[in-house]
Amino acid sequence: MKVIITRKILPIAIEMLEAAGHQCLVWEEQLPPSKEKLEQLCHDADGILSMLSDPFDSDLLAKCKNLKVISNYAVGFNNIDTAYCKSHQIKVGNTPDVLTEATAELAMALTLATTRNIVCSHLETKQGHWKTWEPMGYLGMSLEGKTLGIFGMGRIGFCYAKKMQRAFGMNVLYTNRKPNPEYEKEIGAKWVSLEELLTSSDILSLHSPLTEETRNLFDHPKFQKMKKGSYLINTSRGELVDQDALVSVLKQGHLRGAGLDVTTPEPLPLNHELQNLSNVVLIPHIGSATDESREAMAQLAAQNIINALKGESMPAQVI
Ligand code: DGY
Repeated sequence: MKVIITRKILPIAIEMLEAAGHQCLVWEEQLPPSKEKLEQLCHDADGILSMLSDPFDSDLLAKCKNLKVISNYAVGFNNIDTAYCKSHQIKVGNTPDVLTEATAELAMALTLATTRNIVCSHLETKQGHWKTWEPMGYLGMSLEGKTLGIFGMGRIGFCYAKKMQRAFGMNVLYTNRKPNPEYEKEIGAKWVSLEELLTSSDILSLHSPLTEETRNLFDHPKFQKMKKGSYLINTSRGELVDQDALVSVLKQGHLRGAGLDVTTPEPLPLNHELQNLSNVVLIPHIGSATDESREAMAQLAAQNIINALKGESMPAQVI
C-alpha cells in the first residue's frame, strides 16, 4: 500500500514500512509541504506519517479517498481533525512515552536557561559586552525550595516535576482534571485549583495538550494573577498562551522571564516583540529532539501504520 511520509525522518521508519511491503514516498524538502502539495501527495495514500506542522483538517482529509491511517510523528495531535477521522473510520496514532524523558530534560534546560539568564549573558560575553565580574549583574532566581507549578500533569509534566523536585528540592503544585495519589506519594506534589497554581508558583510550566479548553487559556487576567517576579515555561503548544498578554506582563516586570520552546506561529517572526525581550528565551520546538527519541518516534510512528494497514491494533492509537 502507499504510505506518504511528509518530511525526511530517520531511515528506520522507511525500512520498516518497506519491509512490511509498503511503497513509501517521502517529502524531502526542508520546509513542510503547502496544503496544496499535501493534497497532491496524499490524495491516493493508504497511510500517512505526518508531522505536527501538517494541518490535516477536514477539507484536506476529505480529499484523501483511500486513507486508512494517519500516524503523527509527535505525542500532540492537535493538527489532525480527529472528529473527522473518527466519523470516516480513519485511524489516528501518535508517539507517546518515547519522548517523555527528552522533553522533560529540555524543559529543565529551558528553566535553568531562563531563571539564570544563560542566553542573554552568553550573548553579551560572546559579543564582548562583558567587561568585568559584576556583583549586581545577571542576577537570577535560585530554584532550591521554590514552588514549581505544573499545568497538565501527564507523562511529561510528571517526569519534569520529578526531575526538578529531586534535583533542586522544589515544592510541586499541579493542576489537572483529577488528583493522582501517586504524585503525592512519589514527589509530595499537591493538587490545586488553577487559581492557586497561578498565585503560588514561582515557576509555572505548561504541559497540557492544545484543546478548545486550553487555547489562549493563559491570558492577561491569568498572568496578572501570577506571583510577581515569577517565570513562565512552555514546552507544550504555543496556542495555550495569549502572546500579546505575555509581552505586556513581561514588559511591566510583573513576570520576570519566560522560556518558550513553542510559539504561535512557529517560527515567530523576527519583528515580534517576544524576540526582542532579553528576559525571554526562545527555542525552536525541540522538546523531543534527541537521537534516541527521534529514532524511537520513527519506529513507533511506522509501527502504528504497519499494524493499522494489517487491520491490527496500533501500539499507540488515539482513535
Ligand atoms: C510533540 O510530540 O507533540 C512535541 O511537541 C514534539 O516535540
